[in-house]
Amino acid sequence: MKLFVDSADIATIEKLNHFGVVDGVTTNPTLIARSGGELFPTLKTICSTVDGPVSAQVVATQSDAMVREGEKLAGIAENIVVKVPMTWEGVRACSILSARNIHVNVTLCFSANQAILAANAGASFISPILGRLDDIGNEGVALIESIRAIYDNAGTATEILAASIRSQLHVTLVAEYGADVATIPPRVFEQLSHHPLTDAGLASFLADWEKTGMSIG
Ligand code: E4P
Repeated sequence: MKLFVDSADIATIEKLNHFGVVDGVTTNPTLIARSGGELFPTLKTICSTVDGPVSAQVVATQSDAMVREGEKLAGIAENIVVKVPMTWEGVRACSILSARNIHVNVTLCFSANQAILAANAGASFISPILGRLDDIGNEGVALIESIRAIYDNAGTATEILAASIRSQLHVTLVAEYGADVATIPPRVFEQLSHHPLTDAGLASFLADWEKTGMSIG
């Protein structure tokens, strides 16, 4: 499963990218606002920092305006993926942009039927928003399992991008259920390498090595 960072904070993206396991980035209007940066320069910097896809969301609500915004965003860099909301207007914009060879990520997906529509509109990515389903008492990861089965039945190429990840357990579960990508907030991303037994084991190895008085380099 590929790992994306769900953030528009350049310093944070650079820090995580340093470890060599960031496959892409997702942003949304909230994350851009939180970053405090201007939209186009921020996206341009992120696109040059990370090799993989960088999702940039339109804010228009009518399809023709979404297409205009999407084309402008796509002009920033080759790795931009235009993010549109899962509305009928968004579905139409997805069809038009995809036909023009612009990659599209359909976001705010909360049902399997919405995922079917996005795939049929040519979306490169569908973003089921797991955490927000959990927030209202549903089981977000079950949606990943359902979309995986549906896409596999139809041989659909659209990638399942599990979004609104809230915990390490979410990351494990979406991988088990067949997500192609998890987009992970920095707080959870940083926790992924941590385990108390790893810390204890390393401390013990280093203490024993110290006693030998030897050196490798
Ligand atoms: C994807 O990019 C979504 O916009 C994002 O993961 C939503 O996450 P949130 O529900 O934590 O805001």
